[in-house]
Amino acid sequence: MRQLIAGNWKMHGLGDALGEIEALKRMLAGNPPPADVLVCPPATLLTRAVAAAGGAIAMGGQDCHSEQKGAFTGDISAEMLKDAGASAVIVGHSERRQYHGETDGLVASKARAAWRAGLMAIICVGETEDQRDSGHALHICGNQLAGSVPDGLTAENTAVAYEPVWAIGTGRTPTSREIEEMHAHVRQSLVRRFGEIGRRTRILYGGSVKPSNAAEILRVADVGGALVGGASLKAAEFGAIIACANPDA
Ligand code: PGA
Repeated sequence: MRQLIAGNWKMHGLGDALGEIEALKRMLAGNPPPADVLVCPPATLLTRAVAAAGGAIAMGGQDCHSEQKGAFTGDISAEMLKDAGASAVIVGHSERRQYHGETDGLVASKARAAWRAGLMAIICVGETEDQRDSGHALHICGNQLAGSVPDGLTAENTAVAYEPVWAIGTGRTPTSREIEEMHAHVRQSLVRRFGEIGRRTRILYGGSVKPSNAAEILRVADVGGALVGGASLKAAEFGAIIACANPDA
């Protein structure tokens, strides 16, 4: 499958940020991307971002509730995201796990909700710095993966994102060798559980991806794309990352 370059705007962006969507759209029109491109703006901007993208850029949510509807004040269902024009949703981001106490089981139920609504789920896993330093990174991520990915995965309905917590927003990244080792581990787990489907499922890398390191990261074996936070907020930077996608991956 083509690599997927996904932008996660997190809690950033008022109406004027739509100019970045328009700028990105113009860049991609002039230079067709060697990858699938997705932007996940805050839910408040989703409808307007979809309109601004005019079908040229796919849009996604950053989280969803597991239920379709109900008395869950402040929450947003996968169906609502779909209705607003989203085609994907991030679930289990480490910031959700850390600040909202999301467990693997809850993340799995959110992934199932995404599929129910016809959205692709980007399911995130990643170790903390202590876990890496103590040599437990592979084990931790393997466990998160096993608990967060429900039965029913296909290469089309899911991308897994490996995002080491210590690399998010810090400017620090693992070495190519460390990324390769983790992606191979995730691949092995997916293949053991899902066979050929697991071989085709994209595994994204996320954490301080920027124009200066994207080319190297996107050429690492088993890297099926990138999940980009800070550097996705500006069209120029995000466009430069997209241009680094590896068409032969
Ligand atoms: P970052 O965030 O690119 O700003 O490190 C990545 C993410 O959290 O998805």
